[in-house]
Amino acid sequence: NDLRPIRSPRGVPFLGNTPQIPDTNPVEYFAELSKQFPEGIYGLDIAGIEQIFVYDPDLVAEVSDETRFFKQIEKTPLQHVRDFAGAGLFTAHQHEEEWGMAHRILLPAFSQRAMRNYFGQMLEIAQNLAGKWERKEGQPVNITDDYTRLTLDTIALSGFGYRFDSFGKEELHPFLNALLEALIESLRRSQELPMMTKLRKADAKKYGANIQMMQELVESVIKERREGQSSGEEDLLGLMLEATDPETGKKLDIDNVRDQVLTFLIAGHETTSGLLSFATYSLMRNPSVLAQAYAEVDRLLPGDTVPDYDTIMQLDVIPRILDETLRLWAPIPSFGKTAREDTVIGGHYELKKDTKVLILEGPLHTHPKAWERPDEFDIDRWLPENRVQQHPHAYKPFGNGIRACIGRQFALVEARLALALVLQKFKFADTSDYKMDPREALTRKPGNFELIVRRRQEHE
Ligand code: HEM
Repeated sequence: NDLRPIRSPRGVPFLGNTPQIPDTNPVEYFAELSKQFPEGIYGLDIAGIEQIFVYDPDLVAEVSDETRFFKQIEKTPLQHVRDFAGAGLFTAHQHEEEWGMAHRILLPAFSQRAMRNYFGQMLEIAQNLAGKWERKEGQPVNITDDYTRLTLDTIALSGFGYRFDSFGKEELHPFLNALLEALIESLRRSQELPMMTKLRKADAKKYGANIQMMQELVESVIKERREGQSSGEEDLLGLMLEATDPETGKKLDIDNVRDQVLTFLIAGHETTSGLLSFATYSLMRNPSVLAQAYAEVDRLLPGDTVPDYDTIMQLDVIPRILDETLRLWAPIPSFGKTAREDTVIGGHYELKKDTKVLILEGPLHTHPKAWERPDEFDIDRWLPENRVQQHPHAYKPFGNGIRACIGRQFALVEARLALALVLQKFKFADTSDYKMDPREALTRKPGNFELIVRRRQEHE
């Protein structure tokens, strides 16, 4: 019996560590703090709730044991995200019937085999992006915004048969601003005492208006399907409206369909646009990797060859760029698990039942125990022969266990295609010498990331 205390930075009476936590980029702050605690675990008292942070891969391995830990929504930031995502898959309680039903109904739609069905729509939207950049020849474009247009339009079209037509518009769709503001407000609520939230009356009003805006959009997506032709019966919305859960024999309730549509509109675009933005940033900083990527697309997609699904699945360099980007720039930089019972992790650290544990992906994905030259962008880590030596719990960009990302294959196929098409056609110039400025709002993305795009010439 060798129990050790979980260390914490010093807090203040009553408020604990709450005042120390910055309003913006809290996870970046948590990652920074991890450097003071090389044992791979520390604790904070946030708004009266004890919160444990882990990033040592062996500790993460224990927290990944689903017999001992689970995804809890209560008393976490996701509780507030339920204000708009309700009992959608992402924010549903494990014990809610809706989670199991939607998981079983939608899982087949996210298998590797199902990806072929979405490819045509993914390609159409990726070509819209390329079309816009061709029109912007020689001008600066906001890379993150355009990838956001891409991923939002892609999930809406392939999931729900709905067209945002984001590339036809100068401004981003108002849904995105409503979402951003609502996410920021929900996170803020999770980091302050409820008393403080009550005092911010104007913010509450704005929050309500943003949520209403998003819900009205969802209504129109569903209405369009109901009034339209029967096309797209096989897509996510078709399944949600029509499929019967094999276990309960029931269909999803219409209120739950609304929650799921909003959940997928959010979860299906935020992260993938972050991934593509960070990948493009990483390529700008690593010219030798960029050269390998160009060589790959020129070999598999010479000239203006239109990519097909099988070619995209043959790519090797581009998927490794995505893997390495997800290691260094995980778009969801942390996720939470809760202890089912009193337990001890790492042989030393006692966690009481209901203790909240946050896995910090940044520090985990660069932990010296698991990664050599951890800060180096090295896509060869992901060659099959190197992969087998990896620590099994040192890489969690898609979360863990039964509540891991359902959209992983979707995101990876979409991102492979987008990056391949962009590299086939364009070169980038970073004339303003961009400094990485990550912005967090549940997910993180590079802020104000602009590059000049130019059409590539033969042999360039
Ligand atoms: C869950 C990451 C793309 C839908 C998650 C979780 C992570 C994650 C870390 C677990 C969160 C937690 O434990 O609280 C990512 C990343 C993506 C991505 C890094 C892109 C690079 C997508 C896409 C979709 C999607 C494209 C939909 C088309 C979901 C859903 C859940 C989820 C519905 C909740 C699953 C459940 O709890 O049953 N994602 N995601 N994600 N993701 Fe993704």
